[in-house]
Amino acid sequence: MRPFAASAPELVTGKGAGVLPRHVAIIMDGNGRWAKQRHWPRFAGHKQGVEAVRRIARAARAMGIEALTLYAFSSENWRRPESEVSDLMGLLRLFIRNDLDEMVRDNVQLRVIGDYRRFAPDLVALIDTAVARTAVNTGPILVIALNYGAQAEIAAAARRLAERAQAGTLDPATIDEAMFEDELDTRDLPPLDLLIRTSGEVRLSNFLLWQAAYAELLFVDTLWPDFDADTLAAAVEIFGQRQRRFGGL
Ligand code: FPP
Repeated sequence: MRPFAASAPELVTGKGAGVLPRHVAIIMDGNGRWAKQRHWPRFAGHKQGVEAVRRIARAARAMGIEALTLYAFSSENWRRPESEVSDLMGLLRLFIRNDLDEMVRDNVQLRVIGDYRRFAPDLVALIDTAVARTAVNTGPILVIALNYGAQAEIAAAARRLAERAQAGTLDPATIDEAMFEDELDTRDLPPLDLLIRTSGEVRLSNFLLWQAAYAELLFVDTLWPDFDADTLAAAVEIFGQRQRRFGGL
C-alpha cells in the first residue's frame, strides 16, 4: 500500500527498510476538514482524531518506536471558539480516563510538554495522576503536547538560564547547546528523528522548533482521522530512505 505515493515517490523503491526513527512527532491536522467532507460537525472530526491517536500510539509501540510526540493543543488553539476548546478538553479527559489502564499495562510512559497547568484544575489533576502512574514504566514514551508553543518553551529556557547567571551560579560563557537543551520540556526524550504533519499543510506552527533542527520533515496529504498504521509504516519507510548528514558529507 502506498498511502501518499504522489508526494513521496521514494516509496516505490522499497529501500531503507529496517531503519527506525527513535522519536517521531506528529502535527495532527485535518480533523475539521475530515468532518466537513462528511457534512458532520467539527467535533466528529476531533472524536475520530482521538481514535487515530489511540491507533497510532499502539502502532508506534508495536513498531518499536521509542518516543511519539503528538501536538494535541497548541498555545494558539485558545483562539478557537470556546465551545471547540471545551470539546477538545473533554476529549482529552475521556482519552486519559479510558486509556490510562492500557498504558500502565503496556509499560507506556505518558509525558506532557507545554504549559498544561493553565487547563481546568480537574484536568490538570487527571493529567498529573496519569503521568505519575506511568512514571515507573520503562517502555515506549507517549508525549502529548498540551498548551505547547516552541517559542514560549525556548524563551522560558533562556529565562531560567539568565536567572541563574544573574544569581551568580552560572557563567554565561559556559552556556552551550547541550545546556540549553537541558532546559527544554523535551530534555529526557531521545533526539527528534522524524516530524510529520498531516493534511497537506506545510508549516511547523510553533511545534518543536529547536528539536526539529536535524529532524527529517514529512508533509502528507492524509487527514489526521484517516492516518493509520499503514500510513505510519510508509512514513517510517521514507525516513529510512532519507540520507541524514547532520551537516557533514
Ligand atoms: C487540527 O485539526 C487538530 C487539532 C487542533 C487538535 C488535535 C486533537 C485531537 C486529535 C484530539 C485530542 C487529542 C488527544 C490526545 C486526546 P483542525 O481541527 O485544525 O483541522 P482543520 O484544519 O481541517 O480544521
